[in-house]
Amino acid sequence: MLRQIKSAAIFGIDAVVVTVEVDVGRGMPSLGIVGLPGNAVREARDRLHSALRNSGFSIPAKRVLINLAPANIRKEGTQFDVAMAVGILAASSQLKGDFSCELFIGEVSLSGRIKPVSGVLPMMLMAKKKKIKKVFLPADNCPEAATVSGVEIIGVKTLAELADHLAGRNPVPAYVGSKIELGYDAYPDFSEVRNQKFAKRALEIAAAGGHNVLMIGPPGSGKTMLALRLPGILPPMSEKEAIETTCVYSASGLLPRETGLMKTRPFRNPHHTISDIALVGGGANAKPGEISLAHNGILFLDEFTEFNRNVIEVLRAPLEDGKISVARVRGSHTFPASFMLVAAMNPCPCGYLGHPTRECVCTPYQISKYRSKISGPILDRIDIQIEVPALRFGEIYSNGEEESSAQIRQRVVAARQIALSRLEGRGIYTNARLRVKDIKKFCKVSSSALKLLERAVDRFSISKRAVDKILKVSRTIADIESSENIKDEHVAEALQYRLESM
Ligand SMILES: Nc1ncnc2c1ncn2[C@@H]1O[C@H](COP(=O)(O)OP(=O)(O)O)[C@@H](O)[C@H]1O
Ligand SMILES: [Mg+2]
Ligand SMILES: [Zn+2]
Repeated sequence: MLRQIKSAAIFGIDAVVVTVEVDVGRGMPSLGIVGLPGNAVREARDRLHSALRNSGFSIPAKRVLINLAPANIRKEGTQFDVAMAVGILAASSQLKGDFSCELFIGEVSLSGRIKPVSGVLPMMLMAKKKKIKKVFLPADNCPEAATVSGVEIIGVKTLAELADHLAGRNPVPAYVGSKIELGYDAYPDFSEVRNQKFAKRALEIAAAGGHNVLMIGPPGSGKTMLALRLPGILPPMSEKEAIETTCVYSASGLLPRETGLMKTRPFRNPHHTISDIALVGGGANAKPGEISLAHNGILFLDEFTEFNRNVIEVLRAPLEDGKISVARVRGSHTFPASFMLVAAMNPCPCGYLGHPTRECVCTPYQISKYRSKISGPILDRIDIQIEVPALRFGEIYSNGEEESSAQIRQRVVAARQIALSRLEGRGIYTNARLRVKDIKKFCKVSSSALKLLERAVDRFSISKRAVDKILKVSRTIADIESSENIKDEHVAEALQYRLESM
């Protein structure tokens, strides 16, 4: 007898339906799996034998053939186990009924327990799109699955429990998730950073407009300290953003079990020894890289000049497009990668150029060679570039009141709201992502501001691209001040967030 059961596979970070066909026929007792099964799928044969026996069933002493369709994609993972088990039971009349409309996901252990798997959120989104009404899942995956509404979820712990449910004995009630509050982790607070008014203001603007930031300053000036506090002043993710980010983590197997959705914006902080593949994604399994794990959040590259040059250069395309194409054997995957880049570096190889008390020992040649590690095209994609000066002892150990992250965040959230309503329907959410035609429309400045820009262009050989960047930052500053028009003072301030020496 031939039975068809639906399951799902992860392809990139998206899910596709896999039909598990089970045929039980005459012949030597055997269990074969065809249809490009990966190693974990081939090992299912052994798991199924024990799991079925330990759940009170058996694999019939006949020729059992399992085919996974479509045959053109390689099936990785253990999530087809449950569908194969149900197919075997149905095809050998150990279970009566038609189970061809529901989706079955889950790994079985030798004892018959159903264990959680990766990629459940993308699978649920796919089920919803394909109008699949009911999904059977490992109980442990239910919080993640329940973030998608409109599909019934039955969470099961063992094969025996599942079989009882399918046979109409002891039905398992549908899982109902609780509402997930999107918000913040306990980040360190900006009030701990003394002084550094200029850097703090720049980071507030960066947060409000989603602008990339480069901080240059001597060791100990507080660059890392500032960067670690940036996530605490970003607005919470929207539900749409949270689902996008969670899909990347779910498909990568990095989603903590008890969390349904990623509740906070990701903050990724890879070490400078990272490879280009680990950063942007790819490799044998075409996995998402750090930039996709930072989607809708922050990618912090500390000691920026220590990264390999080719590693920095692969950031060009995603910084421009907000996504990355990763090559596979046939074709490619596209992963989302819309992140805020925050980079920090020393001003020179010894670190002390411009330091108030220590002397720099670098030659001009060493300094220019050091800075040239960050290429023009990369710098062009960083809207806000600032120097973070080393403070004197008295400035660090002063007693003044400093603003808290919560206070700064209020202004950031308000400014983002203004930008969001302006950008409604354009598929972009921040000023940093404004395109040339949007800049023409939304970043109009007075003729006197244009003169100011022109003078700056003449004096500092600023490129057309850099002018657009200044206009975008001016727009964000105006949004923070809730000013509909960009005023001259906003343009003047935006001009300060550029490093002439780079
Ligand atoms: N503005 C500041 N206010 C309070 N402490 C500071 C400040 N700047 C630096 N520090 C102290 O100096 C330490 C080193 O700062 P860090 O962020 O690691 O510097 P950098 O990354 O620029 O080398 C911090 O952990 C903090 O204790
Ligand atoms: Mg540091
Ligand atoms: Zn130096």
